[in-house]
Amino acid sequence: MNQYGKVAVIMGGSSAEREVSLMSGAGVLAALQASGIDAHAFDPAEKPLQLLKAEGFDRAFLILHGRGGEDGTIQGALEFLGVPYTGCGVMASAIGMDKWRTKLLWEAAGLPVPDYRIVESAEELKLAAQELSLPLFVKPANEGSSVGVVKLKSLLDVDAAWAEVSQHKSVVLAERNIGGGEYTCAVLDGQALPTVKIIPQTEFYDYESKYIRDDTVYHCPSGLSGEKEQQARSLAEKAYRILGATGWARIDFLTDEDGKIYLLEANTAPGMTTHSLFPMCAREAGLSYESLVMKILATTL
Ligand SMILES: Nc1ncnc2c1ncn2[C@@H]1O[C@H](COP(=O)(O)OP(=O)(O)O)[C@@H](O)[C@H]1O
Ligand SMILES: [Mg+2]
Repeated sequence: MNQYGKVAVIMGGSSAEREVSLMSGAGVLAALQASGIDAHAFDPAEKPLQLLKAEGFDRAFLILHGRGGEDGTIQGALEFLGVPYTGCGVMASAIGMDKWRTKLLWEAAGLPVPDYRIVESAEELKLAAQELSLPLFVKPANEGSSVGVVKLKSLLDVDAAWAEVSQHKSVVLAERNIGGGEYTCAVLDGQALPTVKIIPQTEFYDYESKYIRDDTVYHCPSGLSGEKEQQARSLAEKAYRILGATGWARIDFLTDEDGKIYLLEANTAPGMTTHSLFPMCAREAGLSYESLVMKILATTL
């Protein structure tokens, strides 16, 4: 275990997802320590990142979520400091944070994504609804945790939907509804793990069904047929590679009523709480939470 030296578990931070990051980080820290790693918590909201060097850290397990943590900025700072870190680099993190640019890349590579329009006004949103048909998902390109995501079901609600989503000072996507099922695929060091099916008891997988309600149902194995499962894993691995992801990332996807797969988005700093999706996929692949954490750390060597 000495090959890893002193490891900082970078957690917390000052994004809206601070609390989730602290929970993920506590799990990662305990797992590393249980595996004999000299690991310590490091919260960049409490002290400057430059102290990593002064405090003698050899590498970092990065478990910040949201802006400042998974958008490439801290990755750039760590590169500058010369501290190896887990997960995606500057480019993949920055692109992964931006749903529009992620879609542009995947589309260009021929991967299936839901049809969408970029809209800049309520009028354009109405036009998009007429072209793509209702219901329509309207969302800011740069948020997460379903913040600002609106399911538009009637043309009467266009103005309200626009008012809601345009608060977020971001490019706005209007996306065709893909209504068969919702899934995610964890990719560890380029290799897809078994998929998970997510069944929210709400209209869609919104903030409440992610973090507050306890009735969201998760199936792993996901119940996809052998052939579909293989196809989903292969698409997730391609999506990961095209994004330029490294270490680990989660690729979310949807299926339509005919079972056709559409890529939804990439998460470059996945949750690692005991209830999180990535550890769920890993368990199905025979990896305990602790061995998963060690495998992620090993990608920094
Ligand atoms: N095109 C779509 N078709 C069906 N459901 C969607 C679509 N886009 C988003 N959703 C629903 O909204 C949720 C949040 O959207 P998503 O694009 O993943 O944003 P976030 O980054 O906030 O998670 C998804 O998990 C899914 O339940
Ligand atoms: Mg999502």
